[in-house]
Amino acid sequence: MQRELAIEFVRVTEAAAIASARWMGRGDKDSADQAAVDAMRGMFDTVDIDGEVVIGEGEIDEAPMLYIGEKIGTREGEVPKVDIAVDPLEGTTIIAEGRPNALSVLAVAERGCFLHAPDMYMKKIAVGPEGKGSIDINKSPEENVKSVAKAMGKSIEEVTVVILDKPRHTKEGSLVDRVREVGAKIKLIKDGDVAAALATSFPETGVDIMMGIGGAPEGVLAAAGLKCLGGEMQAKLHSKTAEEVERAKAMGVNDVDKALKMEDLAKGDNIIFCASGVTDGEMLQGVRFKGSKATTHSVVMRSKTGTVRFVEAIHSLDQKPLPFSDQL
Ligand code: FBP
Repeated sequence: MQRELAIEFVRVTEAAAIASARWMGRGDKDSADQAAVDAMRGMFDTVDIDGEVVIGEGEIDEAPMLYIGEKIGTREGEVPKVDIAVDPLEGTTIIAEGRPNALSVLAVAERGCFLHAPDMYMKKIAVGPEGKGSIDINKSPEENVKSVAKAMGKSIEEVTVVILDKPRHTKEGSLVDRVREVGAKIKLIKDGDVAAALATSFPETGVDIMMGIGGAPEGVLAAAGLKCLGGEMQAKLHSKTAEEVERAKAMGVNDVDKALKMEDLAKGDNIIFCASGVTDGEMLQGVRFKGSKATTHSVVMRSKTGTVRFVEAIHSLDQKPLPFSDQL
């Protein structure tokens, strides 16, 4: 995959971020998500790739655009054949409520490099480069916190664990209680565990570990980002029903109990990851509008080189409207 494609992919997340940011705080997560999907899909049509969506908006019967298996890109001539993982709007409730850390995200890799994660829950643990090599999804939260603290040269009390604020984590005796008991600090977030996982690789965010159960597709996207950042994630599908187990198998995941390492989630060293801020977050600023101008803040990274590039762009929407912008 040529390096020049990276900037093409930024254009895709920028468009989705602009389209969905208009819905900030308006209490309508579906419209925000639809706007992001439309803009992302439209922009992909301009990119010279032969792409296939492997993590997307759902199965073909659930999602008319960016569905799993959909072919995207110009797909003409000698263009790279790639697999694409997308979340046009990561944090639909976040945008609807005007909260921080909504992102538009995508990751691209050579064919067969992403886990075909079904739309179900996944147990995850993620750390940045300093914690790499010290996590084990099969070990307890207590053991992991201690091991990461040691690897990072911190006392346990100096470690901050970010956890989704959901009953499965906050009910008595579950993850939050266990991390408190071991002595680490906790940052609870309502939604958005992709941003939380990536935050572990940016020391200025103050986040050291992301732990808990969230969406499986988001897990693959986070792993792709962490690969570029030199961090680590491990995971396990959290399938609760026989139907979920069957769905996983149908997508090629035969062992649903397998401890998934980086190479299972996002294989190889030719991954491009892009995210644009929709609402303000620790890592990326959200979209700003004034008149016909929109300012976006994005990050684009390549696993091959480890370059992490922040891109601020000012878009003149009167000169270059977004795809589907007549619907905004
Ligand atoms: P959406 O963008 O689909 O709303 O997902 C937001 C999110 O918080 C993810 O970051 C996370 O992985 C997942 O939802 C957790 O799911 P749930 O809200 O069902 O606990």
